[in-house]
Amino acid sequence: MRHCAAVFALTVCAFAASPSRAGEESIRLTEGVGRDVTMARCAVCHSLDYITMVAPVMNRAAWEASVRKMIDVFGAPVGEEDFRSIVEYLGQHYSALAGPRQ
Ligand code: HEC
Repeated sequence: MRHCAAVFALTVCAFAASPSRAGEESIRLTEGVGRDVTMARCAVCHSLDYITMVAPVMNRAAWEASVRKMIDVFGAPVGEEDFRSIVEYLGQHYSALAGPRQ
């Protein structure tokens, strides 16, 4: 039992340490309405550079589908109100693809 607990603690520590090794917390999103909620909700499972990485091929509609997928498929804890703010924010600041904007 004691052995199991020690292994568990080690594993947790290894996980906790990995983001700083990768320098991921240095990623800051562009200033704007909805940035804080986006940073809070979207960094739970992966780095925020997923957002900057795909921005060149995104538009508002694509972000809506993408964030919906995070919620429906991966179980991202994002409420309806936050969903709107995040899509609004990403649609405005991380959409390089020309396309319909609402
Ligand atoms: C519950 C966990 C979780 C949360 C929260 C989450 N994601 Fe993801 N996301 C994933 C997983 C799992 C993948 C795909 C697997 C991988 O490549 O790591 C992914 C992949 C992505 C990708 C890469 C393209 C793709 O569709 O695979 C983007 C862009 C993305 N997420 C954006 C977001 C945004 C924006 C948010 C905030 C609304 C968010 N994610 C929140 C789990 C999550």
